Amino acid sequence: MIMLVSCSQSRELAGRTSGVPFDPAAIFLTWQHDPATTMTIDWHTTPEDGQRGSELHFRKDGETDWKVTHGNWHGFPHSDRIIHRVDLRRLEPATIYHFRFGEDSKEYHFRTMPLDLSDPVRFVTGGDTHHSRHEMSAVAMTYDPDFILWGGDLAYANGTPERVEMWYGWFDGIKENLISEDGRVVPILVAIGNHELFGVRRLQRDGEAWPEEEIEAYLTEHNLWDGKATFFFDLFAFPGRQEAAWGVLDFGDYMSLFLLDSDHNSVPLYQSVTGAQTGWLEAVLKERQDRPHLFPIYHVPAYPSHRSFDGWTNTRIREHWVPLFEKYGVRVAFENHDHTYKRTHPIREGKISEDGIVYMGDGSWGRNPRSGESSDQWYINRFESRIHGIVVTLTADRQEYIMVDDTGEEFDSYTITISP
Ligand SMILES: [Fe+2]
Repeated sequence: MIMLVSCSQSRELAGRTSGVPFDPAAIFLTWQHDPATTMTIDWHTTPEDGQRGSELHFRKDGETDWKVTHGNWHGFPHSDRIIHRVDLRRLEPATIYHFRFGEDSKEYHFRTMPLDLSDPVRFVTGGDTHHSRHEMSAVAMTYDPDFILWGGDLAYANGTPERVEMWYGWFDGIKENLISEDGRVVPILVAIGNHELFGVRRLQRDGEAWPEEEIEAYLTEHNLWDGKATFFFDLFAFPGRQEAAWGVLDFGDYMSLFLLDSDHNSVPLYQSVTGAQTGWLEAVLKERQDRPHLFPIYHVPAYPSHRSFDGWTNTRIREHWVPLFEKYGVRVAFENHDHTYKRTHPIREGKISEDGIVYMGDGSWGRNPRSGESSDQWYINRFESRIHGIVVTLTADRQEYIMVDDTGEEFDSYTITISP
């Protein structure tokens, strides 16, 4: 139910409280539906915050009355934090909305996406972030992005209960760096990576695997299994979520983002590229093939710059997804996982071709960059061992890419003209 609170009432009620305004431990904005008319707002509370409900106040910029809505809450896995979630609908496109978490709360704001590309749209993408190294996020903010797009391997908690604090650090990085000085919270979209999963093989002591009975007891105690995405589904609302880590998000009829799962969340393990996801991918790409800006983002690269070209998932993506990207008009795909910077030549049917797809990555937003063992492969056009983000600016007929490192140096660029 949505209620209205007038400005004078609000001041009166706020005056009853004293001290520092409430400010949640973490704030995370994302989209599950149309980015022009909706916003999903998550915020975390801790036991120190006492009993707080999931009440959220919001108002359009320029209006004085707050609307009050109540969301849902669920537990942060293996933590005493609570995740509160409100999914705002029926908003106006390209509009600023102010929000707060009750009358005693600090105020923030967001902006909805436009319905078309009358004005340029900008986002910054990358992957392989870090629980405590956030310099790249601060640099990304200097470009005033509409949103951030990350392709997996986020906090490196490995789905392990004892590493939950790495998630706290990761969310701290967002709060400290991806909110502007005047309080604009930048929405974030994420894909899944291998470090979002729990792995039995990680249960080691002095380099030795645990005895089997200890593993069994540990899994039972924490409700774990090999390959469980322990935190991911609770921490992130996601477009089209039905316990699958893939989805598509449409921005008007000018852009679609395909958030894909490169062999991570699957039973049996390491097989999510094929089967249902590939069938789904073909259907959603086909429906959108006439749109100018189609961007798949996923964790493991089809065209790696560090790991082997012949790796299991790398090969599977080239066999099962790349022909679909080529068939339905993708011009650029965002890849991650190798902790390097690469930009490939345009590639079609396994060869360099002017009308091919450029693969950009390879995921080093916060991780130490690697040397690039595969950087001399035929498909690599530009390689750097560098922390980076890719700033993408879209107009109706152009895609402009600026690659920037964590010191703010712009070290590569690329432009694609889209023909009608
Ligand atoms: Fe990875």
